[in-house]
Amino acid sequence: MTEERKLRSQAWFGGADRDGFIHRSWMRNQGLPSHVFDGRPVIGICNTFSELTPCNAHFGRLAEYVKRGVWEAGGLPLEFPVFSLGETNLRPTAMLFRNLASMDVEESIRGNPIDGVVLLAGCDKTTPALLMGAASCDLPSLLVSGGPMLNGKFRGQDIGSGTCVWEFSEEVRAGRMKLDEFLDAEAGMSRSAGHCMTMGTASTMACVSEALGITLPGNAAIPAVDSRRNVLAHQSGRRIVEMVREDLRPSAILVRAAFQNAVRTVGAIGGSTNAVLHLLALAGRVGIRHDLDDWERWGRGVPTLVDLMPAGRFLMEDLYYAGGLPAVLRELGEHGLLERDAPTVNGRTLWENCRRAPVHDRKVVRPFAEPLHAEGGLVVLRGNLAPRGAVLKPSAATAELMCHAGRAVVFESIEDYHTRIGDPDLEIDETCVLVLKNCGPKGYPGMAEVGNMGLPPKVLAKGVRDMVRISDARMSGTAYGTVVLHVAPEAAAGGPLALVREGDRIELDVAEGRLHLDVPEEELARRAQEWTAPATGMTGGYQGLYVEHVQQADLGADLDFLVGCRGAAVPRESH
Ligand code: FES
Repeated sequence: MTEERKLRSQAWFGGADRDGFIHRSWMRNQGLPSHVFDGRPVIGICNTFSELTPCNAHFGRLAEYVKRGVWEAGGLPLEFPVFSLGETNLRPTAMLFRNLASMDVEESIRGNPIDGVVLLAGCDKTTPALLMGAASCDLPSLLVSGGPMLNGKFRGQDIGSGTCVWEFSEEVRAGRMKLDEFLDAEAGMSRSAGHCMTMGTASTMACVSEALGITLPGNAAIPAVDSRRNVLAHQSGRRIVEMVREDLRPSAILVRAAFQNAVRTVGAIGGSTNAVLHLLALAGRVGIRHDLDDWERWGRGVPTLVDLMPAGRFLMEDLYYAGGLPAVLRELGEHGLLERDAPTVNGRTLWENCRRAPVHDRKVVRPFAEPLHAEGGLVVLRGNLAPRGAVLKPSAATAELMCHAGRAVVFESIEDYHTRIGDPDLEIDETCVLVLKNCGPKGYPGMAEVGNMGLPPKVLAKGVRDMVRISDARMSGTAYGTVVLHVAPEAAAGGPLALVREGDRIELDVAEGRLHLDVPEEELARRAQEWTAPATGMTGGYQGLYVEHVQQADLGADLDFLVGCRGAAVPRESH
């Protein structure tokens, strides 16, 4: 079989010369017969498998199903590994390496004889890293998620990844849960292959990918161990071969309307604040105009329909049985909140894919008229404390704290916080505002998920469960609270957050989108004169490069030199 259009991989495998010999001969040591180099599409399977990334540890088997589909459709599947980012293990934070992994993906695709790519992603940062790297190359690509774990179980109750860890650990600190009970919950929480099954960042990014149209319909919610996940992998393998023949590239899928659908989807699912950073960074790679104001504009009026933890009660397995993301997209589409013509990788529009999607459980996917939260979109806050913006997730916050003014209790770093938060002499009560500095992209570095800092024990002991917290950090998608995140510019870059001092009054007004530091301008100018940048100690290696080049949160915390699409022109031969 010879393809009509000469494919990119033929620059390696197509010649009857010395170079063609070299490229084919070494590949044949894997048992490949000569006829597979006949010009058929070569499909890279970009695999983030790692036993250190437990959420992606089952990807060897998933890749086999993709390969079945690729072979069946007449392609040649070739699997390759890339840097895997395990949220629970990788220090100082997996986010520090999202951009590095995206570089790995981009260069692995561009440098190899690949015509199209299936991206296997699961754990939080693996999805954006793979999308960003593939977008910067712009070869035909589609994503297959690894799928969520089955619902956690503990003493007859469903428990959710992350969310219940935060809850249980606060219960232990408050003396309401015994340590042996806490430790018992470990195995029940993670009882199957897959990623976090709450609507944390992994599930959010799986839903976002489906809403962007870069996965086959139904991808987001199928549990990792459900055989239908393998069927979807098989079908994705078949489809990527067709996409190569159609030359259907990410630049034709990841259009502005797709981002509009993704932003609204985050509101409808009660998704993670991390999606803001990842979508801003992805838009930068494909050259789409997209900024923080779009989250306000597009997110307004989007109700949270999906009743999943941390905002609600259920888990991803329940969402799958209730109809999955297509059921949610249909609700949005029927109420004017979907760009119906947005393209998807299966060649149909997003609306064509979801317009007949059934809802099987109205407790999990609520009717539009009976949402979990009327305003599900993330709120962008601005003011003299966050001139370039900050974000807050109203569905995870306490209604009474959404308009609040209080005295700042300031921590200069996460270490300072850990040292002092348990001090019985700390002058703090539930009306105060916790302020954490130097945890942003440059400050941590990598923008740690520490924004939902735990409350002081003496406040917890009163039964108080939430306080206003402000930082330049991120928050786990599984966490909750009245937490202002991603303050930009960050403290370590000299943003106003760096100037906050103990006892200052801070005003938060979510309805007005306002975050104000009630200190006279002259005083702030004086403090700015005194301010010196904290030492990060990062002068070499990747971390030094990162600190030098990382952009602020309002630009998605990508590295400045990685922004944009560099294409997939065949690199020159070196033999
Ligand atoms: Fe991997 Fe939550 S730790 S998805």
